Amino acid sequence: MYNKASIKDYSDESMFLVADAISDGVYVIDSHGTVTAINEGYTQLSGIKEKDILGKNMEEVWKNHYVPADSDVFVVLENESIPSYAEMIVKSGNGYDVGSPYPVSILTLKKKKKTSVITTLQNTNKIVSMTGIPVFDEVGEIKKIYTIIRDLTDLYDMKKKLSEAENDKKRFINELKYHRNNELQTDLIGKSRQISELRETIYSIAGADATVLITGETGVGKEIVARELYKNSNRKNNAYVKINCSAIPETLLESELFGYEKGAFTGAQNKEKLGLFEIADNGTLLLDEIGDMPMHLQSKLLRVIQEKELRRVGGEKTRKIDVRIIAATNQDLKQMIKDGKFREDLYYRLNVIPLVIPPLRERKEDISVLVDFFADRFNKKHSKSKFIDRSAIESLMEYDWPGNIRELENIIERLIIIGNGNIVLQSDIERILGKSSDIKGGDVNGISTLRQAVSQLEKEMIQKSLSIHGSTYGAAIELGINQSTVVRKAKALGIEEW
Ligand SMILES: Nc1ncnc2c1ncn2[C@@H]1O[C@H](COP(=O)(O)OP(=O)(O)OP(=O)(O)O)[C@@H](O)[C@H]1O
Ligand SMILES: [Mg+2]
Repeated sequence: MYNKASIKDYSDESMFLVADAISDGVYVIDSHGTVTAINEGYTQLSGIKEKDILGKNMEEVWKNHYVPADSDVFVVLENESIPSYAEMIVKSGNGYDVGSPYPVSILTLKKKKKTSVITTLQNTNKIVSMTGIPVFDEVGEIKKIYTIIRDLTDLYDMKKKLSEAENDKKRFINELKYHRNNELQTDLIGKSRQISELRETIYSIAGADATVLITGETGVGKEIVARELYKNSNRKNNAYVKINCSAIPETLLESELFGYEKGAFTGAQNKEKLGLFEIADNGTLLLDEIGDMPMHLQSKLLRVIQEKELRRVGGEKTRKIDVRIIAATNQDLKQMIKDGKFREDLYYRLNVIPLVIPPLRERKEDISVLVDFFADRFNKKHSKSKFIDRSAIESLMEYDWPGNIRELENIIERLIIIGNGNIVLQSDIERILGKSSDIKGGDVNGISTLRQAVSQLEKEMIQKSLSIHGSTYGAAIELGINQSTVVRKAKALGIEEW
């Protein structure tokens, strides 16, 4: 509020009508340094009462009330721009016209030119910029000085938070790179003719941007092959983004893939969202379990692949994108086309380069190298030093591996974890691989009640199915129960590792 008592020099009256309406602090001194007017914003920012400043000499007021709270943060600016918080500290640390024991109005009076200062005010702990503007008379003598004080506390807090957030971001990006490198480290292990040929093909096509369709049973290593392609491609330093089409509800899949524009949905989602295609721009996108993509999205995907541009959900604008697509599935897409569940034109678009990974039972020479590789990995992971006996490997060679490498990997991990001895024998393998048939035989080591036998059988079937499919979703489909039931039963039956 404009307050007559705040003004001694009535030539400033109209200016102070305005000055009281703003939150910046304003005061005026005459050529002797005596305060002739202040506004309300000033008393609030400084925490000094009107009666302690109005009509007093500003140099005295400064000595009595001001002395910057932290004289380190007192910088006289050479120009108008506001330095960053860090700059302020550095400048003051280097003795850059710092800690001047004068209020800015008196500095202006001495320098006879417009002067700015940034400091922290003692009473209120506020970071402020203060600018003194001299007013000259006809003969060039200073008549009075207006000083404007602006509260920068929020601004500097925000700057600080922003720079912290920037640092966090850098840290997260580094961590992401680290994890990505780690993740990319598993090589395509195998010495069979089929895997050697596959490796050759991967190296020869990796550089081309053509779409690749990887097929093979569950657990054969489709994701490993996709990553191997990426690692050897010209895009290896750009994004590698993977989406599992079967794990995302149909209603969300479209916006996950293509993003949406602001206003496409109401409520909390009223922001824009980047889709995975845009995130993968200039990089590689793995569309995993492509067989589970609903028909209407198959059409949209086909358009995006053909036209190399996309339209976000709820948007008009088309955006150019440059993404190498790798698709993978364990389903028989040709059969799905016959059944009207997969678009034939999309199939041919994806199948530019087909890579078929044979099941493990057709390349048993790979078992021994894979066993060594996994034994080494899990010995390290669980701080063990177990050795898998050659006779045990023979038993592994005889098995059919419906869950392929994933099942082998899980079984090796279990063998490394369980039991005390340091050698894994043939009998250990047979116990694990033959467990379920034991149960079916009815002679169940020491189990007396039907209820016990049922839960033992349940446990083994669920464990085996998890081993094969690697996910509660996959196990649920095989066992014909809900995924939530698999989770609940696995927990109740004490299944931890699979
Ligand atoms: N040749 C290989 N060398 C090393 N590890 C492999 C190899 N093939 C598969 N694996 C491992 O086996 C597991 C299953 O592989 P992956 O996830 O790539 O299978 P998938 O074919 O995608 O299976 P699904 O169809 O069930 O998704 C992974 O842990 C992977 O690291
Ligand atoms: Mg997979």
